[in-house]
Amino acid sequence: MMTGGPERSDFSNDKDFVDALLAWIVKCGTDWYYDEEITQLEHAVQSAVLARSKSGDSADITAALLHDVGHFLMQSQAKETRFHDRDLKHEIVGANWLARAFCPQVTEPVRLHVPAKRYLCAVDPGYWVGLSDGSKTSLVKQGGPMSDAKAKEFSALPGCDAAVRLRRIDDQAKVAGLAIGPIEDFADHLVKTLHT
Ligand SMILES: [Fe+2]
Ligand SMILES: [Fe+2]
Repeated sequence: MMTGGPERSDFSNDKDFVDALLAWIVKCGTDWYYDEEITQLEHAVQSAVLARSKSGDSADITAALLHDVGHFLMQSQAKETRFHDRDLKHEIVGANWLARAFCPQVTEPVRLHVPAKRYLCAVDPGYWVGLSDGSKTSLVKQGGPMSDAKAKEFSALPGCDAAVRLRRIDDQAKVAGLAIGPIEDFADHLVKTLHT
């Protein structure tokens, strides 16, 4: 069963929609742990902080904050089955849902952030070693490293570079006990990346 987040069409202005979206993420992500020692909310905010310090680009920051929103949309299913027991394609569910409100510079890196892990495992020999145990486990369910031909295809996609940037951030944003600022700090970046 899908657990819906706020719909942009229900709000009279963009700021109110973004505020509702951030409040929903806080509600969904506060008490949800995987095998990492941090909550989904901490992971999302740590990702956004890293994107802000690395590129400062609003689309990168918004994609980082929202990249795992598909997990929330499938919350009831995911809680029952554990994400690594079954590949729920959270990246596709999340990207399709976000596309109703956000521009492709946000949604396409989100869509590609799981394939980007499979891509990096194929092209960067040191990458797999640095993955968390949870990411190594889920990689198997996600199809393992890409073949050379698939990796070449992936590298030609327009969203490849942004997806790889997001993936590297995703892998780093799992630091237990790291102080995080309020999620509201990112509201302006989200507003800027809504489509017209
Ligand atoms: Fe993810
Ligand atoms: Fe993630």
